[in-house]
Amino acid sequence: MTRRLRVLVLMHAELVPPDDLDGLTGQEFLWVKATYDVVGGIDSLGHEVLKLGLNDEISDLRKALDETRPHVVFNLLEGFRGLPYYDQHVVSYLELLKMPYTGCNPRGLVLARDKALCKKILAYHRIRVPEFAVFPLGRKPNKSKRFSYPMIVKSLVNDASAGIAQASLVTSYEKLVERVDFVHRTFHSDAIGEEYIEGRELYVGVIGNHVLTPLPVWEIVLDTLPESSARIATEKVKWDVGYQEKHKIEVRAATDLSDELREKCHRVSKRIYRILGLSGYARLDFRLTENGQLYFLEANPNPDISVDEELACAAGAHGLEYEQLLHKIINLGLRRRPTSAEQNS
Ligand SMILES: Nc1ncnc2c1ncn2[C@@H]1O[C@H](COP(=O)(O)OP(=O)(O)O)[C@@H](O)[C@H]1O
Ligand SMILES: [Mg+2]
Repeated sequence: MTRRLRVLVLMHAELVPPDDLDGLTGQEFLWVKATYDVVGGIDSLGHEVLKLGLNDEISDLRKALDETRPHVVFNLLEGFRGLPYYDQHVVSYLELLKMPYTGCNPRGLVLARDKALCKKILAYHRIRVPEFAVFPLGRKPNKSKRFSYPMIVKSLVNDASAGIAQASLVTSYEKLVERVDFVHRTFHSDAIGEEYIEGRELYVGVIGNHVLTPLPVWEIVLDTLPESSARIATEKVKWDVGYQEKHKIEVRAATDLSDELREKCHRVSKRIYRILGLSGYARLDFRLTENGQLYFLEANPNPDISVDEELACAAGAHGLEYEQLLHKIINLGLRRRPTSAEQNS
């Protein structure tokens, strides 16, 4: 019998889940399913669940902590004050308060969220990453630089495939200028242009602080997209239920990998997790080329842990039922002590 804990689930105010999902449209359901699943799962574990929907005021968090005195905060924030990387400050705040929390530590969030910075660090450690260039906000790509095409253009810091469309893949300087301008205007962030890596898209979940458990390799199968489309996980692929059904997008175990490749995915994922000093749980995304080269695409600390998303499915395939996964994540949050192990890159 596990100890009954008071768990404060921290989320965006607009993502506080209703008690039941009846009456929600498919799209509304997509928004709240992660918070709904986690709240339900922690409740099934027998813990006391307190939900906190955070707006723009950090003092609301302080107030809730003072009033409820939780044992642990289950962090489901993916940003704060409308900025995708501001959740790192909220986590730093919890750290200063010595309040145990689940998921990734502030330093890991900082390193992983910057799609250029993490690649620079990993390249130093000889992890294979795509070539890239950063296009700072408000500046046009320098025409005299020699860029290679095709190039995929994204926000440097946004995630969840926001702004990723077929037009993200550019093949000329003119298209590059257009797309960089689109990213600047849409996200008010720098843009990054990356060498386009043709191949299969693989996801590896990792759980742990010091002892790391890599989960079975998962794959999003994009072969069913129309002939004329590039095989990329666009915003539509990720979020449009109708589109997913129409094109039979499947996300499933990459069962056909050789033992050697599977082992390589696990080994590289654990190295990346340690180099970036991640903690709790994360999902590492890769592209696997036809000749077996594995390219790191990005690290997702605190990835979506809805019941039906990659991490939870891969955990299930590893023998960790959903509630056990949440239990493990909570324990890792309770046990984590900021140490030099997060400072060893
Ligand atoms: N360098 C690249 N080569 C090939 N495909 C890419 C590359 N970068 C991104 N993609 C495609 O775009 C998707 C979203 O890019 P990603 O960097 O993961 O952004 P996000 O943080 O929004 O998920 C990826 O899942 C992949 O399908
Ligand atoms: Mg991604």
